Amino acid sequence: MSTCFSEATLSDRDMARLDALYEQLCLANADSIGYPGAKDFSYVDLASFLTLPLNNIGDPFSKSTYRVDTREIEREVVSFFADLTNAPKGDWWGYVTNGGTEGNLYGLYLARELLPKGMVYFSEDSHYSVSKNLHVLGMRHVMIRSQANGEIDYDDLREAISIHRDVPPIIFANIGTTMTEARDDLAKINAILDHLAIRNRYIHADAALCGGYAAFLDPKPNYDFADGADSISISGHKFIGAPIPCGIALARKAHVSRVARAIDYIGSLDTTISGSRSGFTPLLLWYRIRSLGKRGLRARLQYSLSLAEYTQRQLQSIGIKAWRNPNALTVVFPRPSERVKQRWQLATNDEIAHVIVMPNVTREQIDNFVADIAKESSIPCNA
Ligand SMILES: Cc1ncc(COP(=O)(O)O)c(C=O)c1O
Repeated sequence: MSTCFSEATLSDRDMARLDALYEQLCLANADSIGYPGAKDFSYVDLASFLTLPLNNIGDPFSKSTYRVDTREIEREVVSFFADLTNAPKGDWWGYVTNGGTEGNLYGLYLARELLPKGMVYFSEDSHYSVSKNLHVLGMRHVMIRSQANGEIDYDDLREAISIHRDVPPIIFANIGTTMTEARDDLAKINAILDHLAIRNRYIHADAALCGGYAAFLDPKPNYDFADGADSISISGHKFIGAPIPCGIALARKAHVSRVARAIDYIGSLDTTISGSRSGFTPLLLWYRIRSLGKRGLRARLQYSLSLAEYTQRQLQSIGIKAWRNPNALTVVFPRPSERVKQRWQLATNDEIAHVIVMPNVTREQIDNFVADIAKESSIPCNA
């Protein structure tokens, strides 16, 4: 039996407006190569789920009174990423977030509950949301200098921790900085803490972009639970690719037990940041990892790595000082003209810009991009 409201439809005018918006978005989407969102996906098989009021409220690992959920699927998604990040067997927990920022907030929240007097150390190249998260949580923090490639300056980190040796350190490590995809090395960070005989510590890994593929890199960066991370945040809409922002937060289970509270109203545990949570985004991530598998993800990574190398070479061939961190999909170069920035939707920061070679980017797009930049430089394009 349907209600009268279920038959409500849009007017022709509103439909036309949606059509026009869709066209406009497709155009904008076509040549955007400056932000890290993969676009090589289609989730039309999941359309029927849009007719359901899905809600994964509460903890994905505990039952809820509300059963219109995709908790089982969510558990499979987080298990997949727990496996990729070498989470300790039987001692990890995770959930699907609204994106990398929420996963970082979650990691810092756990750190604060474990080490209430802790001091957070993070590099100046960290994502802009980190300062906001620290402000929300009211945590003491010290910003650490970055090296030229965007990686944390380990000497500055050592010195800062030495000064506050009586305060437990909480390290916010970047596993792929926003602008240069630099990866802080947990082995080096742990060596500093060991050298200073600091046992009481917490390390959060912000793997917003790289978390989707770091496990497949050779050599694997030192970023995961086996390397000493206590929590990890990954964006789902970046390398994996999704039409709705989402992410994965993972943490050692013992840490999460400290914050869990049983809530009668939902018949579940309150372990997540949001109360109501999307039941649709876990389906997107599940669909993607089931259809691609580790093999597919690895193949997309190899494709992107070789096209990133090509992009760097082509830019250099027209006299642009382009560079990349080792095994990075991000090609960094001096800030171009405003026209080029707008045309290709390039993210800029002070004097630098970047292209992020996601698996959907084609060689033809790169050639067109390089030719476009060449128009403004004195060296003719030989792309
Ligand atoms: C290093 C880093 N951390 C965190 C974020 C925030 O992730 P999200 O946009 O998924 O919230 C980003 C986004 O670009 C990022 O580059």
